[in-house]
Amino acid sequence: MSNETRKPLISGNWKMNHNHFEAIQCIQKLAYLLTKDDFAAVDVTIHPPFTDLRSAQTLIDADELRFILGAQHCHEADSGAFTGEISAQFLAKLNVRYVIVGHSERRELFGETDEVVQQKLVSIQKHKMTPILCVGETLSDREAGLTHDKILGQVRTALAKQSVEQVRSMVIAYEPIWAIGTGKTATADDAQRVISAIRQEVAKISSKMAAEAIRLQYGGSVKASNIGEIMSQPDIDGVLVGGASLDSAEFARICQYRLRAS
Ligand code: 13P
Repeated sequence: MSNETRKPLISGNWKMNHNHFEAIQCIQKLAYLLTKDDFAAVDVTIHPPFTDLRSAQTLIDADELRFILGAQHCHEADSGAFTGEISAQFLAKLNVRYVIVGHSERRELFGETDEVVQQKLVSIQKHKMTPILCVGETLSDREAGLTHDKILGQVRTALAKQSVEQVRSMVIAYEPIWAIGTGKTATADDAQRVISAIRQEVAKISSKMAAEAIRLQYGGSVKASNIGEIMSQPDIDGVLVGGASLDSAEFARICQYRLRAS
């Protein structure tokens, strides 16, 4: 499907990197490198660790920066006896607008199931934020020819309770686990095939209208040198960037990929 009507979304997931002093420096440097035209062309979300959010929010508000504040995770309940957890309600109070949910590191290292991911989605939307739902296959899924089964299954469970309106405004990021932090990237054709299958599945589960509107990202070793090819695919509307988003100069080049397009 053509992506002419979907504004590209470039997201930086810092994971557990950058303390709040480093976060301020990184955002200031990025703000210096990006122009008004860049923000007109792409939406940029930044997902720092929880302890950086207040500082990032204050900086973005005070300097009227065009970055959209994001978080990496939240708990599905609004409050309660969940030591160490953070709720969607708290994030919304910090002007967080996008929340990553079901990242493969959360699924693999912290045991998040498809069912828990579904509850988190509901909570994020209840507090009027946009979820970035991550899905992805392991290398062994891929080698066994199970990529589509795994990913479409994750999408089906996550979207089971979503209205058409909720689906059309959310984001799904396809992040093949074998490509995260490894320097290996799915070929742009490969990523397009999987992402187009996700869009077709969304049309089946929800509606054609939601499938047309939903923004679908690719993630996994995205860099300034490969983003152009990834973004030239018709169903890919953006990227979720890990390692390369920690370096402001590199992340700015990623955000400005259109300037190098032939
Ligand atoms: P890398 O870009 O470091 O491969 O990480 C991708 C990712 O997991 C983003 O959420």
